[in-house]
Amino acid sequence: MKTNLITGASSGIGEVFARKIAAQNENVLLVARSEDKLKRLCEELSERHNVDAQYIAADLSERNAGARVFDETVRRKLDVEMLVNNAGFGSMGDFLEQDLERELNMIDLNVRALVDLTYRFLAPMRERKSGAIINVASTAGFQPVPFMATYAATKAFVLNFSIALWEENRQHNVHVMALCPGVTDTNFFEAAQIDRPPSRAVQTPEAVVETALSALKRGRSHVVSGWPNFLMVEAERLVPRSIVARAAGAMMRKNKNGDK
Ligand SMILES: NC(=O)c1ccc[n+]([C@@H]2O[C@H](COP(=O)([O-])OP(=O)(O)OC[C@H]3O[C@@H](n4cnc5c(N)ncnc54)[C@H](OP(=O)(O)O)[C@@H]3O)[C@@H](O)[C@H]2O)c1
Repeated sequence: MKTNLITGASSGIGEVFARKIAAQNENVLLVARSEDKLKRLCEELSERHNVDAQYIAADLSERNAGARVFDETVRRKLDVEMLVNNAGFGSMGDFLEQDLERELNMIDLNVRALVDLTYRFLAPMRERKSGAIINVASTAGFQPVPFMATYAATKAFVLNFSIALWEENRQHNVHVMALCPGVTDTNFFEAAQIDRPPSRAVQTPEAVVETALSALKRGRSHVVSGWPNFLMVEAERLVPRSIVARAAGAMMRKNKNGDK
């Protein structure tokens, strides 16, 4: 049976991906840690849209999680037509004041699990000569972000990894795309235990997912969600990276001091 696998589907952008894809009468396979939320969402989606909605409760930062999820799709006879690598979290503050285990756990989830799942699910897509992978990066992936150093670097990885795979896989009819949201109204900031940065360009997760699905239809390698965010990342490319880092650092310091 064909399905669409979405990680981090228990809230925010991932939950909206699940809702929008199911509303197109397509099956979904949802992955996150919160089993109760996934179960409720699957029941709602299968009832409302008459689709097959299944879940796997998994902590994707664990070493064997990618293999477990892949093996489970084989056991359930599911062909993953689209993979949305969306699960991720962030941290904020002076790098040395962060908890090292949490920073490493972030790399395990935002980078390692994403590479693991991409590797495993890309192979059958290439064999079938059809499929799509959306990797959720961030506008933070376009630049160094002082006081969000590790998070922004994980997203730079996701962005560049995805665009490289976009090119590698075009000839195989498999579409890999990076989605780069800016500040989005989700649980992200609560989960990271940080204040939402002041932004005039806050988007809803619905707007972000619509941008992604429409960019996917157009064969894009990556998409920045929201015009103000797009203009910001384009402008940054014209300025030396050290100046971008200093400007971002000054903004983060100002926010930290509550001087908004
Ligand atoms: N919100 C923003 O401003 C923003 C901007 C740019 C990019 N992004 C990116 O967008 C993606 C989605 O974030 P969001 O904004 O929708 O935040 P969110 O509401 O906090 O959602 C994060 C999702 O990831 C799941 N998750 C977290 N840790 C996990 C783990 N160890 N294993 C499996 N699943 C895990 C969470 O579910 P459980 O807790 O149930 O596991 C949840 O479903 C992230 O990659 C984030 O970096 C967000």
